[in-house]
Amino acid sequence: MNIRCAKPNDLMNMQHCNLLCLPENYQMKYYFYHGLSWPQLSYVAEDEKNKIVGYVLAKMEEDSEDDPHGHITSLAVKRSHRRLGLAQKLMDQASRSMVECFNAKYVSLHVRKSNRAALNLYTNTLKFTISEIEPKYYADGEDAYAMKRDLIAFAIENSIIPADSSAFMVSRSSEEKKKMIEDKKD
Ligand SMILES: CC(C)(COP(=O)(O)OP(=O)(O)OC[C@H]1O[C@@H](n2cnc3c(N)ncnc32)[C@H](O)[C@@H]1OP(=O)(O)O)[C@@H](O)C(=O)NCCC(=O)NCCS
Repeated sequence: MNIRCAKPNDLMNMQHCNLLCLPENYQMKYYFYHGLSWPQLSYVAEDEKNKIVGYVLAKMEEDSEDDPHGHITSLAVKRSHRRLGLAQKLMDQASRSMVECFNAKYVSLHVRKSNRAALNLYTNTLKFTISEIEPKYYADGEDAYAMKRDLIAFAIENSIIPADSSAFMVSRSSEEKKKMIEDKKD
């Protein structure tokens, strides 16, 4: 199994995978909007025959006065390829690129309250926390959890070098800043 950055050619297959896995679907132009605006942020998982078995569609949040941050628009792995760690890898790659390319300090997403698999992945494996409950967020009336992952902690743990280290570390403790600067020297 291989994880790689999504190319324009992949967008149709990502949409196909989305249609198989999720009730939240998007027009092709929304995939192109992501691919053309943030080509570094979306990833695919492919099998040994180069067929796409999973994807993460990601972007930077625009129109926000908050710190720079990314957003996961959609994530899915085909049933045949679940519990192999692919979603975790896709999410970590997208998060890494958000820091390296855009200095993202956190990444956000929405998830259905009833989506046990995704909630486990986000909370236990990826260390997202719930920031809000959004009542009736989904078209069928289900509530969403709005969740966030701290990418400063993620970058420090994984020695990821942000696009602009000094701006990235503003508001962080001097210990964390020191570690970030030392990592950069290596
Ligand atoms: C949620 C989803 C993306 C997870 O993909 P995946 O590749 O199977 O996930 P991973 O193998 O990376 O799982 C990592 C961890 O997440 C948790 N997890 C994943 N699937 C789980 C499940 N069905 N039940 C409980 N925990 C689960 C586990 O802690 C797992 O670690 P483990 O296998 O060592 O126990 C996949 O089930 C899916 O595509 N579901 C339908 C689409 C969807 O819900 N997308 C998210 C919308 S917000």
